Amino acid sequence: MPPILLIPGPVDVDEAVLEKMGLPLTPHYGPEWVKTYNETASYLKKILDTHGDAYLIPGSGTIAIEAAIGSLVGVGEKAIIGSNGFFGERLVQFTQAFGGKTIEVKAEWGEALSPNQFAEALQQHPDAALVAVVHFETSTGILNPVREIAKVCKSAGVPIFMDGVSSIGGIPFSMDDWGVDVTVTAPQKCLGAPPGLGLIGVAPSVWPRIEQRAKQPHGWYSNLNTWRWYQVNWADWHPSPMTMPVNIVLALREALIQLLEEGLDRRITRLNSLANHLRSGLRDLEMPIAVPESMSSSVMTVAWGPRGVPTSQIVRFLELEHGIRIGGGLGIFKDKVIRVGHMGPKTSIEIIDKLLGALKDFQRRQIHPSKVS
Ligand SMILES: Cc1ncc(COP(=O)(O)O)c(C=O)c1O
Repeated sequence: MPPILLIPGPVDVDEAVLEKMGLPLTPHYGPEWVKTYNETASYLKKILDTHGDAYLIPGSGTIAIEAAIGSLVGVGEKAIIGSNGFFGERLVQFTQAFGGKTIEVKAEWGEALSPNQFAEALQQHPDAALVAVVHFETSTGILNPVREIAKVCKSAGVPIFMDGVSSIGGIPFSMDDWGVDVTVTAPQKCLGAPPGLGLIGVAPSVWPRIEQRAKQPHGWYSNLNTWRWYQVNWADWHPSPMTMPVNIVLALREALIQLLEEGLDRRITRLNSLANHLRSGLRDLEMPIAVPESMSSSVMTVAWGPRGVPTSQIVRFLELEHGIRIGGGLGIFKDKVIRVGHMGPKTSIEIIDKLLGALKDFQRRQIHPSKVS
C-alpha cells in the first residue's frame, strides 16, 4: 500500500490526474499541444484571478521563484524581503545570488510579518526594485498579510512578488484585486497535481520593468523575457522555449479542471472543515495547536508534540506503523512540532480520523511501551 500523504506537499492526487502520467507521449508542439498548453495556462489564470500572463516552467516552484526575482532585481538593485521562516530566508538567498542588495523585514519564526514595517522600509528605500514575501510560510504555518503589504507597495509604486507555492488553490487570493505583480505556485500542493513545474503569473503593469532588465546577466532559461518572447512569437506552434514535460502538464490540466469544477470557494470551505476537525481532535489528544487561528490557514496544521517526546519519533511511528506520512518541525521547531498538510483534494474527514487514531495509538504505546511492536 502506498503511504497516505499528509505532508505539506506533494499531496495524494486524484486517480484521473495520476492516469495522465501514464499516457503515451505526445510532442510539445503543434496545434494539439498549443491548445493543451493554453488551456492549462488559462485555468491557472482563473485560479490566480488575473488578466495577466501565466507560464508553466519545467522544474519545481523554485525555478519560478528564481525567474521572478532574477527578472525583477538587477545587480546592485535593492529588494525588500519579508523574512519570518525558511522560505522567506530563501528569498533573501535568491536575491543575493543575482547580485541584489537585500533589506530584510523580519519577524520571528512563528510570527506574522507586519505591513507597517514594510511601509517604513519603503520610506527608507523608495528606490527598491522589488518587495518579496511568502504568502503561507510552510515552515511555520504562518499566513502573512500579503493583501495589506501589497497595498503599501502600491502606494509606494514598488512592485510586489508573492511566493504562493503552498497557498494558491487552498487559501483565498486574487492577484488582480490585491495588486500582486508577480506570483508563483507549484502543482504538488493545493492544486493537487504531481510536481515538475513552476507556475507563474505576471501582471501586465510589471512588464516594462522586466524588459529593462533584459540585458542583466541572470540567464536565459529562467528569464521571463525569454518566456514572453516564445509565447508571443511561437504562439501558433511552440509557446514555450523548450521541451515540456507533457504528461505533467496534462495531469495539472486535469487537476485544475477538477478544482474549477468543484469551485475554488467550495474547495477552500472543504479544507476549512478538515482543518477544524483535525484541530479539535488534536486538542482532545492534548496536542495544542502551535499557531493561533488568526495567523494561520486551513491548508496545514502545526501542533506541539507531547512534552519530552521529539516529534521525529511521532513522524517515524506514523510512517512505519500506520503508513501515514506527516511533516516534522523545521529550524527552531525541529522535534518540537508536527506539521500536517491537508491541502490536497483527496484529504477527507475519514483520512483525518485515521491520522487521529494513529496519534492516539502513539500515545497509548508511550504509556504502555510493551505494546510497541
Ligand atoms: C512556501 C514555499 N516556497 C517554496 C517552496 C519550494 O517549492 P518547490 O519544492 O516546488 O521548488 C516550497 C516547498 O515546500 C514552499 O512551501
